[in-house]
Amino acid sequence: MQSVLKCIDCGAEYPLDRLVYSCITCGGLLDVIHDLEALRGQVTRDLFDARLGSLEIPYRSGVWRFKELVYPDMADDLIVSRPEGNTNLYHVPDLAAWAGLRHLWLKHEGENPTGSFKDRGMTGGVSQARRLGMNRVACASTGNTSASLASYAARGGMQAIVFFQEGQVALGKLAQAIAYGATCIQIPGDFDVAMRLVRQVAESLGIYLLNSVNPFRLEGQKTIVFEVLQQLRWEVPDWIVVPGGNLGNSSAFGKGLMELRELGLIDRLPRLAIIQAEGANPLYRGYRSGFAVHERVKAKTLATAIKIGDPVSYDKAVRALHWTDGVVEQVSDQEILDAKARIDASGIGCEPASACALAGARKLAKAGIIRPSERVVGVLTGHVLKDPGLIVDYHTNRIEGIHATYANPLLRVEPTLEAVRAVLAETESAGRQR
Ligand SMILES: Cc1ncc(COP(=O)(O)O)c(C=O)c1O
Ligand SMILES: [Zn+2]
Repeated sequence: MQSVLKCIDCGAEYPLDRLVYSCITCGGLLDVIHDLEALRGQVTRDLFDARLGSLEIPYRSGVWRFKELVYPDMADDLIVSRPEGNTNLYHVPDLAAWAGLRHLWLKHEGENPTGSFKDRGMTGGVSQARRLGMNRVACASTGNTSASLASYAARGGMQAIVFFQEGQVALGKLAQAIAYGATCIQIPGDFDVAMRLVRQVAESLGIYLLNSVNPFRLEGQKTIVFEVLQQLRWEVPDWIVVPGGNLGNSSAFGKGLMELRELGLIDRLPRLAIIQAEGANPLYRGYRSGFAVHERVKAKTLATAIKIGDPVSYDKAVRALHWTDGVVEQVSDQEILDAKARIDASGIGCEPASACALAGARKLAKAGIIRPSERVVGVLTGHVLKDPGLIVDYHTNRIEGIHATYANPLLRVEPTLEAVRAVLAETESAGRQR
């Protein structure tokens, strides 16, 4: 049997090359369902381990290394790959101690070709666009999706059309989308408005929609956890902590983990902790009500990547929480930026939204939900250079309502040896006090 698209609500099925983004019968979200029975025995830890370090196309990609579980029927010559994935998993004892934990790893998805995890999804989505013969692709974006789509569309010879909220996209991301040649459309409306608009545009104008409602993107994104498990030599951690915006990653992780367990590559599931910004917390609100309510919020946070009030993959994220006995936490912008300053100063660095992983792990450890002895993996979703403006504003204490707890102030010194000697002595004694 080939893979099929299947509605998560009513179970309706559609062939893979049907141009459909949600269920025609009930409007539910779609999964790409693979024939796990046929893959059993064929898909093993050894198969994936043997491809590590491969120079061969497409297996050298950290997404396509797992092709049998991503898109087994995709013809190799249609694949658009940079190649993505193969990101580092950092063991970070100092940051662990700060968070009140003993065993913490950070999976750095900012090390992807365009600087965020979006590339893992985009290779699947843009390859599917090629398979369908589409020559225009579109998305609404808080920035990273547009940067990734712009790059992959250019590599695949397609026009990318990206929509975002005027003035709300971090400079690194906006610059990438422009540089890679996308048609960049700013609107006077937030991400949720842009999302509704692009769905209409895609439907009416025959443009392929590449937001994470597109299930082929999520198939690529689930390889983040596949790689983590492989890097931990298939020893399942107790927790995977991930920032939650449009909830594509959370959804993808749930599905991927269930598939690995079904195929016997792991024997238990880690618990998922989804971390939202306080000002963009619809999933957190739902979680606190036992999912009795599904609220949409007017999003407000300095972590612009997750400034989303009506996440597209909400229902799939709820499913992932049920599957993994997961939890949802929220963190303030102050907590996000302080955690970011710690990750940055550790030499690894990440963009603001990514720091939810550490801020959230710390908060959950303080609350006793994550125990100090448990093994925790946090996902850093984007690169430190994505939002340079906010870094300088934080360290120079110029953000209203935020205290630069871990400021590394910019120094101004007269160009003399004496002045430099004096200032270095000062920084040395300040360092000793810290
Ligand atoms: C850096 C970064 N982190 C987190 C997210 C949120 O991811 P998701 O939409 O999968 O919840 C995004 C989405 O744009 C992002 O760019
Ligand atoms: Zn349905």
